[in-house]
Amino acid sequence: MEDFIQVAQEEDVAEGKLLPLVVEGELICLARYEGQIYAFTDNCTHISGPLNEGGLEGCAITCPWHRAQFDVRTGKVLRGPARQDLMTYPVKVANGSIYISLPPEE
Ligand code: FES
Repeated sequence: MEDFIQVAQEEDVAEGKLLPLVVEGELICLARYEGQIYAFTDNCTHISGPLNEGGLEGCAITCPWHRAQFDVRTGKVLRGPARQDLMTYPVKVANGSIYISLPPEE
């Protein structure tokens, strides 16, 4: 059973918006697309650009540094220069709160 951590309120993330968070020392970004909340690392896999400062168009987030694009639903690279997909985190919404699950420490 995965442990979910409460990280924000549902109203904190409007449609098409990004919300940066620090959760247990990890930089994480939340995004809302078509009503669903998605969570992924806030560090671009190219050279760690801050994705929350980029733009969200549809399901595609664009890194502000060199314009790499990722699908916020899956973390998949849509456009280089990044070549590695983003790490994504499971999200649950319950009673107006957003919860995410971090992978276990190695
Ligand atoms: S750091 Fe994101 S594209 Fe270069």
